[in-house]
Amino acid sequence: MGFAKFLGIGSSTPEKVLSNVDLEKIIDTSDEWITTRTGIKERRIAEPEVATSDLAYEASIKALEDAAVDVSEIDGIVLGTITPDHIFPSSACMLQSRLGAKQAFAFDLLAGCSGFLYALHAAKGMIEGGDSKKLLVVGAETLSKIMNYEDRSTCILFGDGAGAAVLSTSDTPGILSSCLGANGDDWDLLYMPAGGSRMPTSEETIKNRGHFLRMEGKEVFKEAVKAIQASSLQAIEKADLTPDQIDLFIPHQANYRILEAVRKRIGLPEEKVFSNLDKYGNTSSASVPIALDEAVKSGRLKKGDIALFSAFGAGFTWGAAVVRW
Ligand code: COA
Repeated sequence: MGFAKFLGIGSSTPEKVLSNVDLEKIIDTSDEWITTRTGIKERRIAEPEVATSDLAYEASIKALEDAAVDVSEIDGIVLGTITPDHIFPSSACMLQSRLGAKQAFAFDLLAGCSGFLYALHAAKGMIEGGDSKKLLVVGAETLSKIMNYEDRSTCILFGDGAGAAVLSTSDTPGILSSCLGANGDDWDLLYMPAGGSRMPTSEETIKNRGHFLRMEGKEVFKEAVKAIQASSLQAIEKADLTPDQIDLFIPHQANYRILEAVRKRIGLPEEKVFSNLDKYGNTSSASVPIALDEAVKSGRLKKGDIALFSAFGAGFTWGAAVVRW
């Protein structure tokens, strides 16, 4: 059995910035409240004509360049998202077409904000099992399209963006461990009520704003801290390492208070946590790969370093992975 490793990483975020001060003009909130409760200062918003696969395409082109891999070498595309261009077909198929990755299979994977960790786990398995040699793993979202900008408890948190990675077979271990988990009992604490088969689109669902994200923030917060801590420690142990051997922790960028609580519980110093939450807010499936790209490009994560990724999201779902970069 071979191993799976990262060959390249790329990301893309829309140019348009929505700052806390901008939000003060449309809802009853303040820069001070958002900053102290979440750590977010601004988020990026896609133009009306831009869909998730457009951001995924830009991030994928950068990842392929970074990996020095031609698109003809890609065996498959796994795309984590909760905001696909359409309910079907998958955004991964649109990405496959735009990239011209004719030989690649393509599918979307829906695992809330853990989408990239789930996609990474699936891709690792396909590579280590010998079925695939090179895969494109993407997390991409246009959450602004499902945001209720009249609900101050959610619209302040989320933003748009995409991150993509090229994975390949390797003689030496690159992804040292990966762990996933889920608890479907709490699905209705973070969800979009309408537009699926349970509640198809109707005049009523539109009137009731059923096509926007809904969340019980306090409950999600508590569960996120517990699950990110437990899965991170599980992934570290599975990699036969201890927390002090982690060079950089790249968590899902949801809320700095969640990151701080987890960091303290795992016992990592502040300088070992990467955060770009202030610039992008929570970009769901895209948050870990965007942060990873910025960590690598800024020199915070260097060749040979050990990184810990973790995420938590709707479902509930969670995942963590330990990687030698
Ligand atoms: N601006 C100003 N006040 C706001 C506000 C906003 N944007 N949003 C909520 N409030 C108010 C509430 O109405 C409430 O007022 P009240 O006490 O008069 O009722 C007060 O602030 C406290 O609200 P609460 O929901 O208890 O705040 P909180 O400290 O739990 O912070 C979140 C709210 C959403 C920031 C926080 O719960 C959170 O980050 N949860 C996790 C969300 C998350 O990360 N989800 C994705 C996981 S993948």
